[in-house]
Amino acid sequence: MAKSRYIYTCNQCGYESSKWNGKCPSCGAWNSFEEEETVTSNKTKTSSQQIVDLSEKILELEEIGVDDDVRYDTGVGELNRVLGGGLVKGSIVLLGGEPGIGKSTILLQICQYLGDDHSILYVSGEESARQIKLRAQRLGVDTENLYILTSTDAEAVASTIASSAPDIAIIDSIQTMSINSITSSPGSITQVRECTNLFMHTAKSQEIPMVIVGHVNKDGAIAGPKVMEHIVDAVLYFEGERHQSYRILRAVKNRFGSTNEIGVFEMRDKGLAEVANPSQMLLSGRPHNVSGTCVACVMEGSRPILAEVQALASKTSYSAPRRMTTGFDFNRLSIIIAVLEKRLGIFMGSLDVYLNIVGGFRLDEPAGDLPVALALYSGIMDKPISEDVIAFGEIGLGGEIRSVSHITQRINEAERMGFSTCIIPKQSESAVNISEHKIKILPASTLKQAFSIIK
Ligand code: TYD
Ligand code: MG
Repeated sequence: MAKSRYIYTCNQCGYESSKWNGKCPSCGAWNSFEEEETVTSNKTKTSSQQIVDLSEKILELEEIGVDDDVRYDTGVGELNRVLGGGLVKGSIVLLGGEPGIGKSTILLQICQYLGDDHSILYVSGEESARQIKLRAQRLGVDTENLYILTSTDAEAVASTIASSAPDIAIIDSIQTMSINSITSSPGSITQVRECTNLFMHTAKSQEIPMVIVGHVNKDGAIAGPKVMEHIVDAVLYFEGERHQSYRILRAVKNRFGSTNEIGVFEMRDKGLAEVANPSQMLLSGRPHNVSGTCVACVMEGSRPILAEVQALASKTSYSAPRRMTTGFDFNRLSIIIAVLEKRLGIFMGSLDVYLNIVGGFRLDEPAGDLPVALALYSGIMDKPISEDVIAFGEIGLGGEIRSVSHITQRINEAERMGFSTCIIPKQSESAVNISEHKIKILPASTLKQAFSIIK
């Protein structure tokens, strides 16, 4: 006999509880509990029930065959890179991002290239077929292999995908899909989880790769993030500032590739265009002869990207000075300020400090410490740093500059972008073949030395 009961599930982390909670004991989210009906069977296994022996299904690793052509080229290099070389056959990819960031746009765009050799079923629960057609026209997508289905019934969609057997299926978006037999509303954690499971089953059993769009909620997480993230094979996030035209695609999870890679795009009037040279884009429009700026180099996966660090220190009018960061860790800034005060006697107790990484990039690598310290120093002393200087290095609490990874790649990128002087940690000097580089390489072992270079 089946017995029905209600449980409460946190829509942020999936934590289950028998009673409603205002605050989730697991992840600390407020007002995140949703009522869910569960059906439990009170039948227990009896000894007469057969236990199935699966030993015949065990395979030797060597005898498992893999097709040569297991990845589909999407025609967009930046997307292929983030996916780890293309869309894997039978895989299920979650594409997350805020509404309006460009998820539907990029998926429609890749259909044009994929449509040359593959059939694609684009299932939309958000837009009408006419709206999709209008968008496709705008984007110049006119492939004959693209089929549109507008529906929000997940079971019907899954069985249609299985019966029509397209080469690739796109579901836009998971929050609009629902299973009729589940009472909760579309977008709730139960619906999202069960729909994802359903599509996952179709993708794996039919070997149809699927891309599922997921909107993020106001906190920047996909509704029911944990429950969805561990079901799918890859999770990609589209990020970007609403007021800026470029977008960054980042892999958060990838069973078939690295999670370090990023793809950079720019939203134009005819859809998203790849940005092959992000450093150039980020460095364009730098101010001339202004104090408080320095160029840093961030490694995004295997790719070095140059970004500008800006610091502004001004006399505070508060009892406790303000510190604000954009794109940089707040606590890290506090440490750097403490080092500057203690080791170099540069006191900032009466100064508000604002730090900004231009272009919405995040500088969350230790190598970003030195350019931040240089920008601060330059800002406080009101001494502009020469525009063709770039720096990288981690700062220790003793005021020393410590080595960083990928030193040669960083120097090469700086050289390519036309910089003439590069301040590197003295410890990393042995890892660089200085005679190979045209750029002037200046090793520094302490912050004091680095400051004396830019003087
Ligand atoms: P969209 O792909 O609909 O976002 P999502 O599916 O992630 O919600 O992106 C819509 C935004 O992109 C909208 O604000 C307009 C802009 N856009 C352009 O700037 N150029 C274009 O060619 C297209 C199609 C959209
Ligand atoms: Mg959309």
